[in-house]
Amino acid sequence: MEHITIVRSDERANERGMEPTIERYPDRTRINHWLVALLFICAALSGLAFFHPAFFFFTALFGGGVWTRILHPFFGVLMVLGFVFLFFQVWRDNFWNASDTAWTRRAPELLKGHEDNMPAVGKYNAGQKIVFWTFGICLILLLITGFMFWQPWFADFFPIVLRRIAVVVHALAAVILIISVIIHIYAAIWVKGSVQAMTRGTVSRAWARQHHRLWYRDMGGEK
Ligand code: HEM
Repeated sequence: MEHITIVRSDERANERGMEPTIERYPDRTRINHWLVALLFICAALSGLAFFHPAFFFFTALFGGGVWTRILHPFFGVLMVLGFVFLFFQVWRDNFWNASDTAWTRRAPELLKGHEDNMPAVGKYNAGQKIVFWTFGICLILLLITGFMFWQPWFADFFPIVLRRIAVVVHALAAVILIISVIIHIYAAIWVKGSVQAMTRGTVSRAWARQHHRLWYRDMGGEK
């Protein structure tokens, strides 16, 4: 089945005189991903507006302070919901295995630009997997703690001490999530050819061979 994917995409590319590619994400995953990314931006900017007065000007994007306050929790809930769908499409490929531990130990080599010294990886490398699980943990924490002080509907169910703890955990999880997304975007741009995986849904065979050799082999690229 996976072998068919690569052959078909090669045939299409050859017909158009283009470089052969491999499918990395189907349409539904890409639409899902960009919806989550858009909701993340809305949730992050509206949340930062209340995090520190220096960011209060972000409220202008959402129709003023009151509207920003009303909309922020809805952006958050929709983002988490969108992530749940995305999660179930990619979680299996994000399972941690022994070679990920070896990859993590050698990560400084990668940062020095010696990718050839790194162990071969499957669909995702250990760095991507760490970011993926960090997203998941932060989003669960944001969802639970957000409900705990969501006025006027849910906050009254929780004692004030718990609500105060929830506010701190919510802010911490948000900061970690924002930093993780910045790392995620930086890595996507830094590894040339990655962004097109999420825009066009395909990557070049050279990209797959270079950065995800085991996945390239599984896709029928190498016998
Ligand atoms: C806003 C700008 C963003 C950009 C430019 C971006 C870009 C990308 C790219 C290029 C990929 C494909 C990487 C690959 O296949 O190797 C990807 C995958 C992915 N992205 Fe994003 N992304 C953004 C935001 C987000 C956000 C906010 C989330 C979730 C909170 C997210 C979650 C994911 C997930 C789960 C994957 C699947 C790969 C994996 O499990 O590691 N992305 N993204």
